[in-house]
Amino acid sequence: MPLLDAADPTAMSAAAEALAAGELLAFPTETVYGLGARADDDAAVQRIYAAKSRPAAHPLIVHAADAQQARRFASQWPAAAEALAQTFWPGPLTLIVPREPSLAQAAAGGQGSIGLRVPAHPVARSLLAEALRLGVPGVAAPSANRFGRVSATSAAHVVQEFGAELKVLDGGECPGGIESAIVDCTALPPALLRPGLLQRAQLEAVLGTPLRERDDQSPRASGSLKSHYAPAARLRLMNAQQLRDALEVLGPQASGLKLAVYSRSRLVAGRGVEHRRMPDHPVAAAHELFAALREFDARGVRLIWVEQPPDTPDWEGVRDRLMRAAAE
Ligand code: TXA
Ligand code: MG
Repeated sequence: MPLLDAADPTAMSAAAEALAAGELLAFPTETVYGLGARADDDAAVQRIYAAKSRPAAHPLIVHAADAQQARRFASQWPAAAEALAQTFWPGPLTLIVPREPSLAQAAAGGQGSIGLRVPAHPVARSLLAEALRLGVPGVAAPSANRFGRVSATSAAHVVQEFGAELKVLDGGECPGGIESAIVDCTALPPALLRPGLLQRAQLEAVLGTPLRERDDQSPRASGSLKSHYAPAARLRLMNAQQLRDALEVLGPQASGLKLAVYSRSRLVAGRGVEHRRMPDHPVAAAHELFAALREFDARGVRLIWVEQPPDTPDWEGVRDRLMRAAAE
């Protein structure tokens, strides 16, 4: 029962009704699946924190049907937020702005700011529009994974994380694969709290100024905790030469290590070493990244050696997730 087929209008209505009734519902976006609850109901939002085992001070993103609805959660709408929203919404961008104090206290983790996003995925858009008709102004939704683990990019991944009890609106695989870029617009110049598939230069071109790096003044972002997005296996990042050397040293002893190698370069891995090619294009690499890490885990891999992606701006989002997955 809990899998609702997004192509079925009855299932879509049931999903919107579940949200309106204060229930949890997982749903697809163009980035990753979200674990949603109506943002204007603190008791509903508490269910998200409980399900994720997420500390209650870690704020969630509120998803809205359009920019006008999103703005209802803001007490101020800085010019930078307006420019970015105009250009990139609906899309994989979250804006942090000052919060309307009477709204979404729990979703904001008690902070005076709020993260807002208008997603572009057609299933998410229909769901948010239908929920809005039922009186739901916005849906708080972190990524649909347990705290600190790899995000879910398919309905099956969500079920792996939370079991079959949870209602999941199944819209297939998420096209993007890594979470939205987050820009803090509460101070100038705006800061990039989390890189995504939108490139820094695209954001800066719209802002007309370089983005600030996140600093200790920046609001908390759990996605920016050093260790996050971690698979169960230990993950190590190496360049192609380091990988070749390490594999050569291992030689035939590799079997028994439950080692997997994930690289763009062609490598000769010994017997017992699983090898998976990382796509050459960052968009394709992002799309499969979390699914690939989950597959390694599912096959009992204990150690994943990953080739460091290129140090170019188009790979920033993927590099960021891999660095965090590799952090102790
Ligand atoms: O692509 C995405 O953003 C997905 C989909 C479901 O929309 N959501 C997502 O949510 O990645 P989550 O909770 O896993 O990551 C949201 C990040 C967290 O790091 C959180 O701390 C940060 O956004 N965040 C939310 N509100 C914030 C605020 N007021 N100030 C600072 N950071 C905030
Ligand atoms: Mg997350």
